[in-house]
Amino acid sequence: MNIKHIAIIGAGAVGSGITQVCAASGYRVTMIDIYPQALEKGLATIQKSLGKLAEKGRITAGQQSAALEAIATSGDLAAAARADLVIEAATENPDLKLRVFRELDALTRPEIILASNTSSISLTKIGAATKRPDKVVGMHFFNPVPLMTLVEVVRGLGTSAETVAATVELSQKLGKTPIEVNDSPGFISNRILCPMINEAIYALMEGVGTREAIDGVMKLGMNHPMGPLTLADMVGLDVVLFVMEVLHRDLGEDKYRPCPLLARMVDAGYLGRKSGRGFYQYS
Ligand code: 3HC
Repeated sequence: MNIKHIAIIGAGAVGSGITQVCAASGYRVTMIDIYPQALEKGLATIQKSLGKLAEKGRITAGQQSAALEAIATSGDLAAAARADLVIEAATENPDLKLRVFRELDALTRPEIILASNTSSISLTKIGAATKRPDKVVGMHFFNPVPLMTLVEVVRGLGTSAETVAATVELSQKLGKTPIEVNDSPGFISNRILCPMINEAIYALMEGVGTREAIDGVMKLGMNHPMGPLTLADMVGLDVVLFVMEVLHRDLGEDKYRPCPLLARMVDAGYLGRKSGRGFYQYS
């Protein structure tokens, strides 16, 4: 498959990270978001991240400016019509994602792959919303995208072997390490990560230790680069809650019950870094 131009849907932390990585790997990229402020913020994040990588000598000044020049932005989903592959990284909302995929299916050439960065929504269901389930696949990136090497390549029930192979090849061209996973709630990553974070929040709610103690134990005792509460703030508490709700509902086991403190914090708008307050405060 000859991929030159990639459209990314969503300019949030992950969407802008994917845009950056694709542009830095030599692809032409159109980053699409209906909110102009999100596009502005996404571009600023990319500029800052490329600047840091250049400062550290991980990319040259030439690569930095080439990556920036390869990025176009648009507020209109129709801009994806000219792309050779689409990666959707919109808000984790099933109705929204299904609608976006129906529209992408109608807008884009029938032979191109439509990938989703969903963290827990069924790829089988997303594929079934289109007329090309064989070309719908999960490309699950990790935050911060420019630094994390994994891409979980998720195979829905209808995804073809050719689509999986092309997605694995693309992930490698992006400098990532793909790991293939079958479609199941939370895939491998969030099936394991989010229950750990949820348990850390239970420990906080029950007064087993302070936030610093809980994070400190996991950092120093298990060599995790960040404690689970700091990580929850980075991922977004709304995302963690959503994943726990999917695991609880779709796997039907009490062990996945979302912690009430997590649900209360999301109700209060304490979503972590992106809202300025989560388990910690951010300026
Ligand atoms: N671009 C470029 N540079 C960046 C960056 C970015 N996006 N983000 C951080 N950096 C830089 C920092 O500025 C820092 O630079 P410095 O050394 O000049 O100060 C350097 O990277 C190292 O960062 P830090 O010193 O702040 O901290 P760490 O050494 O701990 O590294 C980290 C940062 C790579 C984020 C590390 O803490 C880590 O691996 N944390 C865990 C991340 C993780 O688990 N991600 C997965 C989340 S789950 C997910 O995304 C899936 C979803 O579906 C829920």
